[in-house]
Amino acid sequence: MKNIIGLIQEELSEAFKKAGYNEKYAKATLSNRPDLCQYQCNGALAAAKEYHKAPMQIAEDIVKILKDSSSFKEITAIKPGFINIILDDAFLADFINKMTTSETFGCDKTDSPKTIVIDYGGANVAKPLHVGHLRPAIIGESIKRIARYIGHNVIGDVHLGDWGLPIGLIIIETKRRHPELPYFNESFEGEYPEEAPFTISDLEEIYPYASAYSKEHSEYKEEAQEATAQLQSGRRGYLALWQHIINVSVKDLKRIYTKLNVEFDLWKKESDAQPYIPNMVRDMKEGGYAHIDDGALVVDVKEDTDTKEIPPCMILKSNGATLYNTTDLATIVERRKLFNPSRIIYVVDKRQSLYFEQVFRCAKKTKIIDADTDLIFLGFGTMNGKDGKPFKTRDGGVLRLEVLLKDVEEQVLSKMTERDMDKNEISETALKIALAAIKYGDLSNQASKDYIFDMERFISFEGNTGPYILYTIVRIKSLLAKVQKEGIIINEDMPITPSCSQTETDVMLSLCKWQETVNAAYEELAPHKICQFVYELSDAFNKFYHENRIVNNEDVKRRDSYIKLSRLVGDVLETAVRLLGLEAPERM
Ligand code: ARG
Repeated sequence: MKNIIGLIQEELSEAFKKAGYNEKYAKATLSNRPDLCQYQCNGALAAAKEYHKAPMQIAEDIVKILKDSSSFKEITAIKPGFINIILDDAFLADFINKMTTSETFGCDKTDSPKTIVIDYGGANVAKPLHVGHLRPAIIGESIKRIARYIGHNVIGDVHLGDWGLPIGLIIIETKRRHPELPYFNESFEGEYPEEAPFTISDLEEIYPYASAYSKEHSEYKEEAQEATAQLQSGRRGYLALWQHIINVSVKDLKRIYTKLNVEFDLWKKESDAQPYIPNMVRDMKEGGYAHIDDGALVVDVKEDTDTKEIPPCMILKSNGATLYNTTDLATIVERRKLFNPSRIIYVVDKRQSLYFEQVFRCAKKTKIIDADTDLIFLGFGTMNGKDGKPFKTRDGGVLRLEVLLKDVEEQVLSKMTERDMDKNEISETALKIALAAIKYGDLSNQASKDYIFDMERFISFEGNTGPYILYTIVRIKSLLAKVQKEGIIINEDMPITPSCSQTETDVMLSLCKWQETVNAAYEELAPHKICQFVYELSDAFNKFYHENRIVNNEDVKRRDSYIKLSRLVGDVLETAVRLLGLEAPERM
């Protein structure tokens, strides 16, 4: 379905052509003076140069043609050559009615669906999720949902970190504590125990301990590096131990991601890309792309146009060990083989941007990926505390994601008013509100920017917050419940009638932005555009709600129209928040 700007542009185009001007000037935009008009066209100003005419004259020519158009209530030429537009109420209502008949409210599916891999989450096994993992999970999940809504074939992959030094550290620390275990006995040939020698809480204690200890004791660190290398070259006992780490960790990670309402299609790991490394390295050498530099195998990726130094991409260390780079490149090989995606989007901390620049250049140069495959880095900024520094616990430690979520849930509980709920409903509702607070607080900022995690503001039921949006949806749900309870049967064949007040018009104008909002959010990988949309629509609806009698309106025709409009707002809002990864409760 054509969006409203498209429809306005169609009329403008006809008029520009009719008046003898090129239709490329018939561009409509939202008004930047909403107090004066709803939409505007600045084309006359641009056309003036080509036609050597006063812009005002061109604007007047266009207005003369469109003055009687049934689409516009008012179309006026304003000095020095703007065309201001106010839509006809019937035309606007007609558009809104069309939205109600479409399952996606007029937001068409793409006619060229792409296969897109989204690499997000960034979790590592054996380490608990901390607040640093919040942003990639939230942003990636939203981008996935938006792209899927538009009709793309999207594959979300958590790409677990499971192949580096942390595993070596856990191996040697476990060995120190339990040297008798068969994993460390190289002559052991039997079956290893099915049960892991540690629980998730053990791992959460072992890793930070070993990591801190290795920083103080270089021989311990070397031992861990050695264990990592042995794991990577296939030492049987270490592989068995690594498998235990994965099983124990993944189970726990799945539990937390599920709680966050973040769902991956793939639980691939860095180690899954290892089988692709030997051939990839061979091809890079044979293709003449890689060369030895100081013992290491590297690919030069700098370009003449670079303004800053882009170091070579290292493929193998001088001792033959592979690196983070190697794994990421081999993962590209794997993804191409398994899915042949036309885009891969990485949602990763923006401090890794140079790293990904190297990886992408290397992938293109060595032709492990087709030239026309988009490799996109969506780098996000840091979540800061109120002091403007990266969010930490009170004593300066990293804050576990679960602890943060629990904190927010408790704060939300203390603000909830509706108490005739059973225990289950209370906790489910509090979780939904808490997630809305956290996710909306994050997504309403442009992803690349840092932001301040401000708990009080995020959980507020007023203002530009997740809970406020949910509150609006709940308000509409209870309005519709009241309609049912009072036995009101609305005439479904009757369309929504043209607006009769400013607040109603504002609701309609907000709704009209749905299609272009979703498309822009996808094109620009910008969930914050959806946040802006839901906030504006919620605000418009709440003003309309306060100013008008809806369920109890004596004018039955108007009542039905208002109910239908409210229902549409509720449906659109619920769909929109789902694209953000939020869920609305029934009451709150
Ligand atoms: N696990 C990594 C980290 O903790 C993030 C992974 C990002 N994705 C990737 N393909 N490198 O930094």
